[in-house]
Amino acid sequence: MNQPVFLCNSADLLDSGSAVPFNVLYFSKYCAAFAVRYAGVVHAYLNRCSHVPMEMDIQPNQFFDLTGHWLMCATHGAMYCPRTGHCSMGPCRGGLVKIEVSEANGMVHWHTSDKFQPDT
Ligand code: FES
Repeated sequence: MNQPVFLCNSADLLDSGSAVPFNVLYFSKYCAAFAVRYAGVVHAYLNRCSHVPMEMDIQPNQFFDLTGHWLMCATHGAMYCPRTGHCSMGPCRGGLVKIEVSEANGMVHWHTSDKFQPDT
């Protein structure tokens, strides 16, 4: 069943700024995830590169490249579209795993599904 889980306050996510990390169970396995804001809209993904399943942060909670238009993996430079998680260049093998989010009343929630459950 799809349940909203509080992720952060809206003000915690600035356009092309730092991510907010959170954790999920993905098919019952513990995984790091992150939320970012891009062009005013919040998006969330597993923090797992499609090239090698490693966390991608350049610095803790920093995923955007210098242009602020791409999410970049620090290890080999794969670039992903912040809106969709699709690979745009680099050694990716597919895209990022997207997590449904919603934003209302100054709060951001992620949503559970068959794949995603809270980690507690
Ligand atoms: S691990 Fe991300 S580009 Fe290789």
